[in-house]
Amino acid sequence: MIEIPNRPSGGRETADNDPRPEPPGFSFAYPGYKSTALLDRLRATEYSYLDAGGHVYLDYAGAGLPADAQLRAHTERIRRQCFGNPHSDNPTSSAATKLVEQARLAVLAHLNADPEEYAAIFTSNATGACRLVGEAYPFGPRTPLVLTYDNHNSVNGMREFARSRGAAVRYVPFSSPTLRVDEEAVRQALVRARLGRFPAGRRAARHGLLAYPAQSNFSGAQHALRWIETAHEHGYDVFLDAAAYLPSNRLDLSVVKPDFVPISWYKLFGYPTGVGCLVARREALRRLDRPWFAGGSVYLSSVQGDWHTPAPDEAGFEDGTVSFLQIPDLEVGLRWFDGIGVDRIHQRVVSLTGWMIQRLSGLRHGNGGPMARIYGPANTRERGGTIAFNLLDADGRVIDERAVARATAAARISIRTGCFCNPGASEWASQLPRQAWRRAARAHIRTMDEYVEFLGLPSAGALRASVGLVSNVDDVERFVGFIETTYRDRAIEASGLAPRVRC
Ligand SMILES: Cc1ncc(COP(=O)(O)O)c(C=O)c1O
Repeated sequence: MIEIPNRPSGGRETADNDPRPEPPGFSFAYPGYKSTALLDRLRATEYSYLDAGGHVYLDYAGAGLPADAQLRAHTERIRRQCFGNPHSDNPTSSAATKLVEQARLAVLAHLNADPEEYAAIFTSNATGACRLVGEAYPFGPRTPLVLTYDNHNSVNGMREFARSRGAAVRYVPFSSPTLRVDEEAVRQALVRARLGRFPAGRRAARHGLLAYPAQSNFSGAQHALRWIETAHEHGYDVFLDAAAYLPSNRLDLSVVKPDFVPISWYKLFGYPTGVGCLVARREALRRLDRPWFAGGSVYLSSVQGDWHTPAPDEAGFEDGTVSFLQIPDLEVGLRWFDGIGVDRIHQRVVSLTGWMIQRLSGLRHGNGGPMARIYGPANTRERGGTIAFNLLDADGRVIDERAVARATAAARISIRTGCFCNPGASEWASQLPRQAWRRAARAHIRTMDEYVEFLGLPSAGALRASVGLVSNVDDVERFVGFIETTYRDRAIEASGLAPRVRC
């Protein structure tokens, strides 16, 4: 029997475990935060390594954190039972298969997806899911790819598959300085990408793919789920990148119907790494044509006859042996996550995001100049817990992100710096015109430093602080306090910084 830890215990909802009193004004501005006090108790018990290590962890957009209970469940399971390769019919194989299939159902249940309608395919991460779709989607001269500027590189990379098959690739630009995308711009791109490719009045059934993130990994902006329906009406399948959205938001696949959803589970609950999913509508899966086959993904293949029969549904997309000792940990992680409740996590993330934006925007040098420039939505409406920004010196110059990375690391603060694999958003944030980026593309630039110099950029991207499941207000206060004491009216030591090779 699989040992799954009990749901996180409820108990009295007080803020007793808060490490320090809340800052003035916080409770008034975010009264809902109190209802999330269970997370403070769990931080003290299940995530105690955070405070024991003196960490200020603000990189939940990079990775979520595991609870002790998840790790205990993993160890217990593999110590007490024997699991073999799921591709056989022996007892240890059947034991592994049973748990893998249970995890598959748990994934679908978490997303409220009907197993008749959706399939959960195990991949190694969200990127693996992007590749599965990119390499097998029937792109072609009449089947374009439309993407928002706001996309992770793992989604941007699909354009190479599309182009290699003669498909039009069209980007939808941002429509505001706050890194939002206008619905009308999406609609226009969907229409234009197929203009002239079909006789007037004849709309082909589902020929084309719209790819966008439900939440930006750069700015935290959430893009409308209603675009899924818009895209369907225009004859497009939808690739909804939910990697950054799911850690603090509910995606209900009985309500919205994206065709392909890539997920990295470690972003929700920290462990296991190396396991992701492509959740896909079965009907859309049938449109994919895989460029190869492998052990596990074929029913039959012949060397001398030179043919193969792909395995149907999920199995046809799972190459080789799935990570059968880790996949059952998804069921554990999901039970843990759902036991806490995504609404509670969402409430905490919204409160801390609003507070961090307020605190960062309020930071001032002695001359009244702002200390931070925030990119993306300036309030908590339709945004998640990821805040991208740069620090400014008293003369309004951007402080080199490497200097900030060095100083924060020394203070055991974990944030992300750079372009966060989202060049569309960081290019837009730089406010350089499109021609500048085009010129750079022709200049045979090899390193990030050369790029920065060629374009005359003040830095190579931004700083990103992101809150999540066990963040608390003290994390925000310590981080903002650190910025204030380190950078207010200070000359910045920027010597001895490592060269920037890549984004
Ligand atoms: C929005 C988004 N999409 C895709 C990815 C790729 O995820 P992974 O690196 O786990 O494959 C990330 C990772 O940060 C992400 O934030």
